Amino acid sequence: MAFQQRVFSGVQPTGNLHLGNYLGAIKRFVELQDSYDCLYCVVDLHAITVWQDPVELKRSIREVTAAYLAAGIDPKRHIVFNQSQVSGHAELAWVFNCVARLGWLNRMTQFKEKAGKDRENASVGLYAYPNLMAADILLYRATHVPVGEDQKQHLELARDIAQKFNNDFGTSIAANGLGETYFPLPEPLIGGPAARVMSLRDGSKKMSKSDPSDLSRINLSDDADAIASKVRKAKTDPEPLPGEVEGLKGRPEAENLVGIYAALSGTGKEEVLASFGGGQFSTFKGALVELAVDKLGPIGAEMKRLVADPGHIDAVLRDGADRARAMADVTMREVKDIVGLVR
Ligand code: AMP
Ligand code: TRP
Repeated sequence: MAFQQRVFSGVQPTGNLHLGNYLGAIKRFVELQDSYDCLYCVVDLHAITVWQDPVELKRSIREVTAAYLAAGIDPKRHIVFNQSQVSGHAELAWVFNCVARLGWLNRMTQFKEKAGKDRENASVGLYAYPNLMAADILLYRATHVPVGEDQKQHLELARDIAQKFNNDFGTSIAANGLGETYFPLPEPLIGGPAARVMSLRDGSKKMSKSDPSDLSRINLSDDADAIASKVRKAKTDPEPLPGEVEGLKGRPEAENLVGIYAALSGTGKEEVLASFGGGQFSTFKGALVELAVDKLGPIGAEMKRLVADPGHIDAVLRDGADRARAMADVTMREVKDIVGLVR
């Protein structure tokens, strides 16, 4: 069965939006606007799966919204909103809690990483988080989901949930006149030279909001001086840059910087090495500083301008939530009919 092509994605409002979020996710959100109807969500219900200071959380929800707008997402043509304003996310997540199997969630590597050694003390929400993510996507019956590589396993789970729901309730879906399958199997859109941006201090760790070292990441709020000093201090190795992509094997820091340059300039690693191969890191880093400041500077400045007017941001979120809710309500009515809940 053919589903209408639709994009859904989300970013957690947990502070320190960084270059990985931009290149792995937000920049690609912007690019997809011409080809799809898109919903871009600030996933605040995901954020509270770990402790968030309430004042900081509100600030952060507005900051992620500002980043979406500053990067070039058009909230009139598409839908920009925060998750908690549309109750269907939590409702559908509950249904999915009853569809997904414990064994499936037990395999989620991100839960293991985030819960760490003290698993008994992790919130139930952190454990059930992938079911909520499946609900986010399927509430709008979205077909495509742009994310960084770290979300691949969660997307596979969302497909498994959609498939099991379609199978378990197949007879009821048909009996309610809703076709042969109800949910699409959403496809991940993962790729490009920066699907996994690594820490500037350690090429084996991904760039992350929670890294205690601020030197490990370029924040979208960093000014030109901060960007320059972080790039200059980025870890490298003593060899000159190779001429071919093959030569980046076993050199994670070099590969990361080349990937960042490629993604920021909209080319590939081959093209970057064709220009800089054989040269010293100092030359390459100088060019990378210039490029990064050129691309990120205006976004950071626009974010600053937007967060200074929270009234405007809140109005954008309310308008987006109204439009998202109208779509979500249709799905929830149908899901209730399918499952057999009297409404
Ligand atoms: P989060 O901040 O965890 O909500 O992530 C928001 C989006 O950014 C998701 O699509 C992630 O996959 C993506 N992302 C986060 N960190 C990185 C990274 N280091 N490299 C590439 N993409 C990332
Ligand atoms: N789990 C994603 C992350 O941590 C954020 C997210 C929540 C998401 N719901 C989503 C991404 C739905 C894509 C689609 O990055």
